Amino acid sequence: MNSERGLWKSKLGFILAASGSAIGLGNIVFFPARAYQYGGGAFYIPYFIALLVIGIPLMILEFSFGRMTCSSYPTAMRKLGGKTWAALGWMGIVNAFIICAYYITILGWVVGMWVGTFGALWKPSAVEAFGIPSGVLSNSMSYFFNMISNWNTVVFVLLVWAINILMIMWGTRSIEKSVRFCVPLMWIFMIILIIRGVTLPGGGQGVMLLFTPDFSIMKSPDVWKGAFSQIFFTLSLGLGIMVAYGSYLPRKSDDTNNAMLVSFMNCGFEYIAGVAIFSLLFAFAIVPKASTLSMMFFIVPEGIAKFPFGAKFFGFLFFTLLFLAGITSSVSLVESFISSIIDYFNWPRKRAILFGATLGVIGSVIFGLPHVIDPNLDSDGTLGLTLLDLFDHWAFGYGLIFVGLTELLLLGWVANIDEIRNFVNAHSRYRLGKWFNYLVKFILPLVLLSILILSIIEDSKTGLYGTKMVTGKYPLGVIVFIIWLASVFIGGFLISMLKGNKTGEADKG
Ligand code: PHE
Repeated sequence: MNSERGLWKSKLGFILAASGSAIGLGNIVFFPARAYQYGGGAFYIPYFIALLVIGIPLMILEFSFGRMTCSSYPTAMRKLGGKTWAALGWMGIVNAFIICAYYITILGWVVGMWVGTFGALWKPSAVEAFGIPSGVLSNSMSYFFNMISNWNTVVFVLLVWAINILMIMWGTRSIEKSVRFCVPLMWIFMIILIIRGVTLPGGGQGVMLLFTPDFSIMKSPDVWKGAFSQIFFTLSLGLGIMVAYGSYLPRKSDDTNNAMLVSFMNCGFEYIAGVAIFSLLFAFAIVPKASTLSMMFFIVPEGIAKFPFGAKFFGFLFFTLLFLAGITSSVSLVESFISSIIDYFNWPRKRAILFGATLGVIGSVIFGLPHVIDPNLDSDGTLGLTLLDLFDHWAFGYGLIFVGLTELLLLGWVANIDEIRNFVNAHSRYRLGKWFNYLVKFILPLVLLSILILSIIEDSKTGLYGTKMVTGKYPLGVIVFIIWLASVFIGGFLISMLKGNKTGEADKG
């Protein structure tokens, strides 16, 4: 084992880091929005099934994949499958890198909103860059569009990058220290928000809606697809994250138990976030919409602004919570691709960080580009936000599933799945039976393939490959699709051809 790579100091540190990665912006705003869209409480059922069928098994696999190979994703792929699989590994990491770049831009905006909670966020303002007079949009919306159409935001983006770099500078040691601080704080803030939400007059009604299931939705394939793809996203699977975090686990770890702990903590947080958000919005008859960004930047702040007292304080709390949840996720993404560089090319950590972070900062600044391209706000408004939306469509909608599929093909078909299962069982209290082989070989790939096909069908209905911008107003959509495709598939392949760390090859098998 390469002891220089570092190991988690304690099981708690690892669980906090992995659950910190899983609990992110998605848990706080995206899940409640989805649940609302798909008929309130009934959504919990397909969601729970998705967690059991795909979430926990895949997390067990990712932890053990990392632990078995003592490597981050592309090197782990190479050790078990050889050069071709290393290329597929790098494709996944390039995809994760793109997500990382825009995730950090969004976090920069969260910091901007946080600054606003001290005053400007609560007042009406004109949005000059868009030519929108004061009072037309809600206060939070005008504040947000003022913010993103201004270069100042880049400062926030740089700040978030600096914090991420500090958090991974000393590998597991510094990650562990920061999650020990951030993750418990995040839970406390969430609990305070719930108490405020349910004690609002009318807040209980929102919770009732959440727990009044409309079972008829379960007939819709859309709901099932929504549940299964949300599980991928929320557990941070298919990004090399859990492989990298797993690779820092000591030999005698219980992957099954770890995966269950992390998954249940994540989904528990999500459920209670649903209670907070539903009560808060229903108290003021505000309908949660399905987009994550508008939920967190416009809709929830709008609800908070109507609080009978302490709106500023709760606004501050909400954005601090978003920041804490987001930073413990972004740090895992950064660690995923930095550790991929370190392991594959045998680079010292500092050099990998310097190189990786420089590229990352450039990417995040591009997603923050303030140029107004749609003054009517029929679409996203600025160039950066439009790019973000377009890349997100491919990287999250397709990239993750593709990575999951390749990972399953390697582990289920190319590597020896019995060997992997025995490796997991060796230190596990709960032993995985033969059924696990079938799950990995047939059921999981089939589920992922169905999600992929359903997405393609859905996208083909809205024009060439999806988003309105592809065929509509902006040819940008086509350009982004080509850039995403080329950087992931050609870029990933080329990186894997660069001179790697040959010593890794000797460990094969
Ligand atoms: N798991 C995070 C969430 O639920 C999303 C995320 C995925 C963040 C992957 C980083 C990396 O919000």
